[in-house]
Parts: sequence; structure tokens; C-alpha cells
Amino acid sequence: MPAKRSPASASPKATAETPAAPRKTPAPKALAPADRDIFDLRMARSADDLWGMTDRLYGAHPNYTAFRERLTAAMQSAWAARPADLKRQDLARDLEPDWFQRPGMAGYVFYIDRFAGNLRGILDKLDYLTDLGITYVHLMPCLKPRPGNSDGGYSVMDYRAINPAFGTMEDFEEVATALRARGISLCVDLVLNHTAKEHDWAVKARKGSAAHQDMYLMFDDNTLPKAYERTLVEVFPNDAPGNFTFYPDIAPAGKWVWTTFNEHQWDLNWANPQVFLEIAEVMLFLANKGVDVLRLDAVAFMWKRMGTRCQSEPEVHMILRALRAVCRVACASVLHLEEAIVGPAEMLSYFGRGEHDGREGNLCYHNSLMVQFWSALATRDTGLMRHVLATHFPAQLTNATYATYIRCHDDIGWAVTDEDAAALGFSGPLHRAFLSDFYHGTFPGTFAKGALFQENPATGDKRISGSFASLAGLERAEEAGDAGAADLAVERILMGHALIAGFGGIPLIYMGDEVAALNDWTYRDVPDHAHDSRWLHRPRMDWRRADAARGGDTGPAGRVFRGVRHILARRRALAGLHGGVPVRVADAGDAGVLAVVRDAPTGVVVQLYNFTESWRSIAGNRLLGLGARAFRDELADADVPVHGGQVAVPPYGRMWIV
Ligand code: GLC
Ligand code: GLC
Repeated sequence: MPAKRSPASASPKATAETPAAPRKTPAPKALAPADRDIFDLRMARSADDLWGMTDRLYGAHPNYTAFRERLTAAMQSAWAARPADLKRQDLARDLEPDWFQRPGMAGYVFYIDRFAGNLRGILDKLDYLTDLGITYVHLMPCLKPRPGNSDGGYSVMDYRAINPAFGTMEDFEEVATALRARGISLCVDLVLNHTAKEHDWAVKARKGSAAHQDMYLMFDDNTLPKAYERTLVEVFPNDAPGNFTFYPDIAPAGKWVWTTFNEHQWDLNWANPQVFLEIAEVMLFLANKGVDVLRLDAVAFMWKRMGTRCQSEPEVHMILRALRAVCRVACASVLHLEEAIVGPAEMLSYFGRGEHDGREGNLCYHNSLMVQFWSALATRDTGLMRHVLATHFPAQLTNATYATYIRCHDDIGWAVTDEDAAALGFSGPLHRAFLSDFYHGTFPGTFAKGALFQENPATGDKRISGSFASLAGLERAEEAGDAGAADLAVERILMGHALIAGFGGIPLIYMGDEVAALNDWTYRDVPDHAHDSRWLHRPRMDWRRADAARGGDTGPAGRVFRGVRHILARRRALAGLHGGVPVRVADAGDAGVLAVVRDAPTGVVVQLYNFTESWRSIAGNRLLGLGARAFRDELADADVPVHGGQVAVPPYGRMWIV
């Protein structure tokens, strides 16, 4: 694999500075007696999760004793400094630990500038969000990024400052407070795998500070990088091939730096306890600014081991469990959403499996549900979907729930294993290639229109970019002036929204998908974006469209907006959709229709999703056999007509039968 091209050398006069004493943790404020008690109780609750893990990870490190003292001091200081309203929230959520699994939770994900101009602009959009039924927002990267191309904000140069283009830390706190007043939880990104090369640690490392060089993964020559490359994958093979970058200016004679993603994103060395400490302090800092959910970015890549893909190594889970414990001690209401876009079995490990059960991520993206939605939509067959969901996923998770989604800011990678494909008699490579062609829009008869992302001829991998609506057929239908095709696209979109609302977890609606926003092809004219087709589905919010949709527009935007609002309202009213309720997929007796069963003590909910453009009939007896007790569709809020013992499901129909 080729290495990343080495960037123009910056400062040739690299002087070996005295190993910088990393930033001092302030001495802990004295805790009031009640706070001291709470801290001690929470520490006792989480000691195994925290010290049990760090002993194993860092116990042999010469600075380990000092590390433990400094981490304890950092947690105490953060708890002492935690604002009273957040302390109260910690207590409330300790008393109601299922708060985030409740059917009233619904998320919305957006870029601050593209949605509202800047942070303060969000304050004017709160009615829009509340009207839709949103109780959770994910502000896409908002910490200070490097200048220029910053990978959509995921190349962060200062974790304690807000991106000046969006506002100040004071603005951020004001938004957090306003959201809290409305009962909306706030999620922000925390990139754990890498910093921008402009981050202070990286700048000092580059100038020769040994202590800071030890915070990254640096090599004097390319012997080890070459050895690692043998088993690594490339995340951005087109723009950033290889996983290492050579910097000739790093003292003494140039160094190779581990850069999994882009050249400007330097991987952190999590084997160094100093990295753990610094990031833990950042976490606590953000928590005290009013963040409810930390989206821990690119966590799979945090630990490196020769001879492996360096993804999802066991130490990753130990680190994440310990980080989770840090929050449980000092800001107990804060949740961790772990971003690991990996295959089905591997993804589950981020909820904590085996010894870590229930002790790691509270939320993880249900990447397989997303991939299988698109796969079943293309094939009009739910067989593979049912196989994957039934084989790999348990009915229930401990202390956790899924983040369910159809689209996000990233590309879609076809995470369908060869084994799963073979179980259905498909070839993995052929099925994945079919899906790429279908959603790129080149497969004959496809309804979709998208773009390829990071096509990799070496592996045959072709990922896909595109908006929900365009991938679901609306763009092509409108171009052809085909009203019937546009209607089908609207139904596909609403079926997807209903699926993520009914399946179990927090449904995350990606900005614009509630008004059927189409692909934004103008990204090709923006120099910092043109190389990255993910900007195809990161449009500026079209407020004319959104206002019309809210105002009774009868076109696709209005139908989708009202449909989503209705789905979320019906969801809120249905106790059986609580995230803690077991979920299983079942045989509907028709491969075109997915049956999802929520075995709730308050009454079983049998959900049907028709992945085809034709009417399908499902035997009423089968639904009764799955646990339905009446033919009442709670989603439509109407009785289900039964003719000759059969329930007729319309094209792309969805039903939540109780
Ligand atoms: C995550 C983000 C993605 C970014 C990558 C590197 O996967 O979702 O947008 O490119 O991390 O930070
Ligand atoms: C993420 C994922 C990958 C995604 C990429 C950026 O970490 O692993 O699937 O495509 O980063 O888009």
C-alpha cells in the first residue's frame, strides 16, 4: 500500500525541547460533606470499572501511581465544579436510569452552520424541533477544528474551544441551557482516535518534545509502519492512502506518524496513560458545559496490535469502559454513544459483552439495521435482513439501547459479511457490488440516485453517498416528472422512518430527511468539499421547503414532514416501544414483508414493514400467533381491515399492530 504523501515540511528548526510537563490538574476544590458522600458512593459503584481496567491497561507504567492520583483529583474537581442544575439532573437520572430508552426519545442530527447559521441561530429553531417531536439533538462537530479542510470538523485542534465560526463557549452554554429547559438532550462529538496535527500536543511533538511525541504513534523509520500495513485497511483509499505519513521536519531525522484517516488527523497513543488522563479531563470539561451525550468518534481504531486490522482490539473496550466509569463518578447523567461502524457481531461488543456486559456504551449505532434496510429495499426481499438481525443480535441489551438511523453524515459501507450472504445463497462480493450499483444509480431499473465514495479497486469496495430521499427514489422521480414514482419514494421514506421509530432505540433523524431533502450536487464547486462525496448529503437546510412542509405543503416535503411528526407522536404514546422491551424479527409468511415483534409486558406490538411496491397479504392468524391480540394499528391509530382472514399491507406500508 502506498504511504500518504509527505506534506511540505514546516519548521525545519526542530529543537528538542525539555520533555514538557503536561498540563497540571488544578488542586481539587474541597467538597462539601454531602457532595463528598455522593462522590464516594459513585466511586464505590464504579471502582471496578475504572481502576479494574486502568490497572490492567497501565498498571505496569512507571507513572501509574501518579496517574491514579491525578485522575482522582480531576474527577473530584469536576464534580465540585459541576453546576447545581446538572448535579440535580445526575440525581434524577440515577433514579430513572431508563430515561433514554423511553418511547418519547427522538433525535435529530445537524450541522450547526448548515441548519441555523451559528449556535445562537439554534435558539430560533427550537420550536421547529419541538413541533417535530425531537427530544435529543446531535450537533455535528462543534469544537475548534483545524483551518481549511477539517474532515467536516473531525480534525480538532482545541477540545476546549468552540469553532469560532459557530460562536463562543458562552453561546454553547446558552444553547445547552435552552435545550435542557425544553427537555432536549444535547449530544456532541468527542474525537478519541486522533487530533488535528495543529493541536497543541501535536505541535509540541513536532517541535521535538518527547513527552508529546509519546502521545502519538511515531516511528523513526518505516520498518514498523510497513509491518503494520500488511494487515491494516484503508479508510480513505482515494484521498489518503496508507495509514502512515512521513514528516521530514520532526526531530531528530524525520518521523513516520500513524494517520489512519487523513494526513492531518494524527492517531493518539492510548497505551500512554497521559492520553487517557487528558481526554478524561476534556470529557469532564464538556460534561460541565451541559453536554448530555458524548458521541465518541472512531473508537474502533484506538488500540493497535501488530498482525491485526487494529480495530476493536480488546483494550479498546477496557478503555471505553474506564472512560464510561469516569463519567459515572463525576457527571453521572452523561451517556456515551460509541461510534463504531463495523459488522454486526463486532458492533455488539461496544455495548460491552462478556465481562464488560452493560458497562460500556449506552448507545451504539445500529449500522446493520441501516445497511439491511437499504439492501432489502433494493432486492424487495427481507430474507437477508431477517437472517442478520435474528442471528447476530440479542433480544435485549443491558443498560443500553441502539441509535437507530437510516442516514447520517457519513457514507454507507456495505457491511454484509460473506458468511451472512452465503447463508441466503448470495455471493458476498456480488451482493455488495449490486448494492453499490443500485444506489449509485447505474443498475438498470434502479430508483436510486447517489454517488460513489472511496472506490477501492484493490478490495472491490465501493461505498455510497446520497440523501435518504434521493437514494429512496425521489430525485429520479422528480427529474422524470413521474408522480407515481414520487409517491412510491415518499412511502419508502416514511416506511424507513417508521422502522427506526419502532425497532427499539433512539431514532436519529438526519437533518433534511424529515422534509425529503434531495442530494446537494453543489458540493463539487466547493474546493474543500469537492473531493469528498459525503458532502452530497450534507446540504444547507432549505428553510423555505421546511416552512412550507410545516405549513401544509401537499408535495413530498409536506407529506414526509407530517408523516414523521405523526410517527414520533404515535411512538411516544406506545409503551411497548420502550428501548428496554425485547425485540425480535419474525417470519411474516411473505419475504417482501419484515415482521418485528416487541414482546412488551404492556402488550405485544407486531410491526409489519412492506419492502415492495405491491400490495401484500399477511394471514391474520400468523399475526395472532406472534402475539397480536386485536387488529388495531397503533401507528395509523385505526383498526386494521381483515378480509377473509388476511391483512392487506399496502406498497411500502407499515403497521404497529397490538
Ligand atoms: C467518524 C466520522 C467521520 C470521520 C471519521 C474520522 O467515522 O463519522 O465523519 O471522517 O470519524 O474522524
Ligand atoms: C468511520 C467508519 C467508516 C466511515 C468512515 C468515514 O470511522 O469506520 O465506515 O466510512 O469513518 O466516513
